[in-house]
Amino acid sequence: MTISEAISVRTSLRTYLPDPLTPEQRRELGKVIDMCNRRSGLHFRLVCDRPGPFDSIKKSYGMLKGVRNFIVFAGPENDPNLEEKCGYYGEQVVLTAVSMGLGTCWVGGTYDRKECLELIEPGEKLVCVATVGFTPKEPTGREKLLAKTIRPKRRSAADLAEGLDRAPDWYADGVAAVQLAPSAMNRQGYRFTWGQDAAARASLTDTGSFSLVDLGIAKLHFELGAHGGEWMWGGGGAFRKAREEKSCGAVPWRMGPRGRRYLMVRHVGGHWGFPKGHMEGDETEAETAMREILEETGLEVELDTGFRQVVTYSPKRGVVKDVVFFVAQPVGGKERPQKSEVSSMGWFSLRSAREMATYATDEEILLAAEAYLNEKEELSH
Ligand SMILES: Cc1cc2nc3c(=O)[nH]c(=O)nc-3n(C[C@H](O)[C@H](O)[C@H](O)COP(=O)(O)O)c2cc1C
Repeated sequence: MTISEAISVRTSLRTYLPDPLTPEQRRELGKVIDMCNRRSGLHFRLVCDRPGPFDSIKKSYGMLKGVRNFIVFAGPENDPNLEEKCGYYGEQVVLTAVSMGLGTCWVGGTYDRKECLELIEPGEKLVCVATVGFTPKEPTGREKLLAKTIRPKRRSAADLAEGLDRAPDWYADGVAAVQLAPSAMNRQGYRFTWGQDAAARASLTDTGSFSLVDLGIAKLHFELGAHGGEWMWGGGGAFRKAREEKSCGAVPWRMGPRGRRYLMVRHVGGHWGFPKGHMEGDETEAETAMREILEETGLEVELDTGFRQVVTYSPKRGVVKDVVFFVAQPVGGKERPQKSEVSSMGWFSLRSAREMATYATDEEILLAAEAYLNEKEELSH
């Protein structure tokens, strides 16, 4: 699940199971937290197996039950956009946790803030935290009741935004993602406008203590819903939509004497990955993938479009790129790397291919392809 997809399944969950996070989950969350800290200059951290701030006997934090892990959202106290950045980057961490199947809840009030202040360095300000952990598969009766009392109806798109009738579709898609954004007391105290300069803007309509955190969360949701772009910080900040690009390719595989082998190419830029390239004219995704594989590797392939996975990233500022991957098997042609694009190529075992992949997204695609092929093989037996 991508973090964009996590938007529609996320809901605040307040009842946690005692199971600790696995080392793999801690690593994954650690990675996204490091990335957010690097980009933002903030200092988020994951705190595991520390129920203290949520089970004080002095105060009643009855709403949250069984919390063991949480993420601290903090940063330099002199950062003028600290609160908003905590919302924007913090929601990236929260949605990543949701995409990993974990439960989350932003918490600004119902925890022992004093205990968390011990975790903060001099010159930093603690903004809020979010709980994270395993939750019961089905929402408990208590959870349903809490959701009903805490979360009144969501605001409509027309209530949250003006200009929906004049703006391009991506604006409405952005607003639809904002409708699902968490906010303190479910206030959603902001409004989106569409300007004559073809830019969207987000302004505060509320001055509650977490309204800037809420604004940051809403901006991230809008950006994900609109499929890429860049915000300016602050109430009234403008959003510029990114230019969209699309490439298609595949993970080519064949059976060797010792199991499956995957074809990887080394692009002239130096990185190892799978063959792919830009869509041309009115090609279908499958046509682009087959043409690109033939051009880059000399191989004719048969595609299996039952596997279709999309990776989204920003190759440069102002551009968002989707890459669609299928799986493929060679059926003809002759291996011949395309000189202008590919410096070398080779067939590798799963283990070696994982090590060769330069980008994490290629490794993810490889693992997803392997899981798909295993499942397909099992079904055919
Ligand atoms: C900044 C912020 C602070 C919050 N603080 C609390 C809190 O102290 N206790 C709590 O139970 N929920 C808290 N929430 C969760 C909201 O109540 C919840 O997001 C909102 O009701 C919408 O419901 P949903 O998240 O299920 O969509 C907070 C949310 C945000 C964004």
